[in-house]
Amino acid sequence: MSIQTLFSPFQYKNLILKNRFVMAPMTRAFSTDGIPGDVVTGYYERRAAGDVGLILTEGTVIERPASKNLKDIPNFYGDQALNGWKNILNAVHAKGGKIAPQIWHVGYTPMQWTPPAAFESPDTMTLADIENTIQAYADAAKSAKELGFDAFEIHAAHGYLIDQFFWEGMNHRSDEFGGKTIKERSRFAVEVVKAMRKAVGPDFVIIIRLSQWKQQDYTARLAPTPKVMEDWILPLVDAGIDIFHGSQRRYWEPEFEGSDLNFAGWLKRFLANRQ
Ligand SMILES: Cc1cc2nc3c(=O)[nH]c(=O)nc-3n(C[C@H](O)[C@H](O)[C@H](O)COP(=O)(O)O)c2cc1C
Repeated sequence: MSIQTLFSPFQYKNLILKNRFVMAPMTRAFSTDGIPGDVVTGYYERRAAGDVGLILTEGTVIERPASKNLKDIPNFYGDQALNGWKNILNAVHAKGGKIAPQIWHVGYTPMQWTPPAAFESPDTMTLADIENTIQAYADAAKSAKELGFDAFEIHAAHGYLIDQFFWEGMNHRSDEFGGKTIKERSRFAVEVVKAMRKAVGPDFVIIIRLSQWKQQDYTARLAPTPKVMEDWILPLVDAGIDIFHGSQRRYWEPEFEGSDLNFAGWLKRFLANRQ
C-alpha cells in the first residue's frame, strides 16, 4: 500500500477529513475537577495546527457517579465542562481540524483517587443502574451533536465499563446482560449504541473502540476465533456503529492462526462482507 493513501481525503456520511492521520485518544488529566480549560484547548489546537486529519479526544466521561477514576479527567456533562469543550471545538475548527470526543465510563477500575460515590461493579449494577447509565451515554451523544462535534467515539475497549460486560473474566451476571456467549454479553454495548444512535439520528458518525486486550490482562481475548469475532462485531453494526477502531497493542501480530491479518484487518474484512 502506498503511503500516499494517508494524505488522501476521507469521507463517510457527514465526516469529511482532509487526510487519514487520526490522533489516538490519550488521557491527560489536565482538566481541573473535570472542566477542560485553556491548557486543554491549547493542547488540541496545536494538534489541529499540525494538520492531523481527525483528533480523537482523551476519554471524557458520562454523567454517572463513578464514571472516572482520576478527578482531573474531563467531564462530558454540565454547563461548565461542555462550555470548555465548545471552546476546544471552536479552536480546532478554526485551524481546519476535525474532532470527536471519546465517550467513556471507566467501570470498576480502582485507582489512587476515590470518586465521591461508590464504584459501580459489574456484579452489582442493578437493572436501574444499567438503564440510567445507558441514558447517560445517550445524553452525551446528544451533547456531542448539539455542540457541533464532527463525530464521537464510544470507548468500549481496554477493560473499562463496556468491555467489562463483553469480558467473561468480569461479567458474571446471570440476567439478560450476562451469558456464556459474546453475543449475550454484548447486550449492554448494543443497547448503549442503539440509544446513542437514536439520540443523534442516522447521519452522525459513530465510532467504537474495541480491543481484545484488557488493562487487567494483556493476554485476554474476547474472540478466540474469527467466528466469535464476527458474532461480536456484526450486532454492533446493526445497532448503528459506522466506524470500528481496533486497538491492537501489537499491530504487527496476526490475530488468528492461518492468516496474516491483524485485528484491524479482520474488522475490515467483516465490514467489507457486510456492504
Ligand atoms: C498517556 C496515554 C493515555 C491514553 N489514554 C487513552 C484513552 O483515554 N482512551 C483510549 O482509548 N486509549 C488511551 N490510550 C491508549 C492509546 O490510545 C493507544 O491505544 C495506544 O497508544 C496503543 O495503540 P493501539 O491501541 O492502536 O495499538 C492512552 C495511551 C497513553 C500512552
